[in-house]
Amino acid sequence: MKQNMGEHILVTGGAGYIGSHTVVELITHGYRVSIIDNFNNSDRSVIDAIEKITGIRPNVHEFDVCNEIELNHFFKHHTDISAVIHFAAYKAVGESVAKPLKYYRNNINSLLNLTEQIEINKPSSFKGIVFSSSCTVYGQPDVLPVTEATPMKKAESPYGFTKQVCEELLLNNASNASYSSIALRYFNPIGAHSSALIGELPNGIPNNLVPFITQTAIGKRECLQVFGNDYETLDGSCIRDFIHVVDLAKAHVSAIKRLIQQETKQAFEVFNIGTGKGNSVLEVIHAFEKVSTQKLNYKIVGRRAGDIEKIYADTSRANQELGWKAESSLEEAMLSAWRWEQHLQSR
Ligand code: WQD
Repeated sequence: MKQNMGEHILVTGGAGYIGSHTVVELITHGYRVSIIDNFNNSDRSVIDAIEKITGIRPNVHEFDVCNEIELNHFFKHHTDISAVIHFAAYKAVGESVAKPLKYYRNNINSLLNLTEQIEINKPSSFKGIVFSSSCTVYGQPDVLPVTEATPMKKAESPYGFTKQVCEELLLNNASNASYSSIALRYFNPIGAHSSALIGELPNGIPNNLVPFITQTAIGKRECLQVFGNDYETLDGSCIRDFIHVVDLAKAHVSAIKRLIQQETKQAFEVFNIGTGKGNSVLEVIHAFEKVSTQKLNYKIVGRRAGDIEKIYADTSRANQELGWKAESSLEEAMLSAWRWEQHLQSR
């Protein structure tokens, strides 16, 4: 089977939504990729889709990153790993409120195990870790747009807290480690690959806006509820920084390049990964209606508990230091999400 000859990158959670798009970008940029995934919240067919898009099948190791013995075994047999992108984690904010221990155990243990096994096995050419963080670490910031220097507020959910703890773990460990770490704070990832072969696969009823929109449009859901139109925003609905998942995936390639070329300026670095532009929930709906040329069935209801009013990123640091910039428009992202939903229906 055809394989790239470039640096060997381990991607935990590589079959997930952001993970799979990142694996595609890594492969197309010539990296050799191994995935560790327990397929707890992802589908095995994603690996076939990655192969179909890139012509290369990544190596897949099916186990839980929290499993010390299996992870130790992995590093013993893969001594040439140059860097790790760590996605494997639970990500449902609401569920984390209902089951906090599940989130603490999985999200913190997986990174702890990963960093310990790297320390124990010392892969000879190891350059660093890219960590999947989130804008949720900021809470509702007092000043917009948020920069990386914006103070973190007390986390609004156990999920958000696990992201804060994991960043802190990497920061504390940075002075002892012989490698660097980069945390990417994602804003709201949406959309799918242009091939429509990979995309978001929500488990049950989607919590997030865009999969709920596309599922409503295709007839899987009756009606989208818009949570609140009485916020202090132009149209009264909440504002977020919606970033195309392929742009987000490319930010990981830039971060990997920075680690491998040893260009980091500090042993632990943080970057906001968004578009730098805020869009309201109603604007997202209208963008969808435009690209899909159909009306969406939606109604305004009360606010959702825990929602912040508005947040969007200042991305100057990522633009300058990573040489990365989000390129896709909201409409392009919505069209890709719609094509993906149509693909799901046809398969
Ligand atoms: C977006 C907007 C809703 C559904 C979550 C995580 C966050 C980060 C990004 C990972 C809000 C509104 C939604 C619906 C609606 N992920 N909405 N009707 O809450 O901004 O952020 O994803 O770290 O941590 O919390 O994303 O897509 O749920 O909501 O009106 O049916 O859409 O109120 O204003 P959110 P979301």
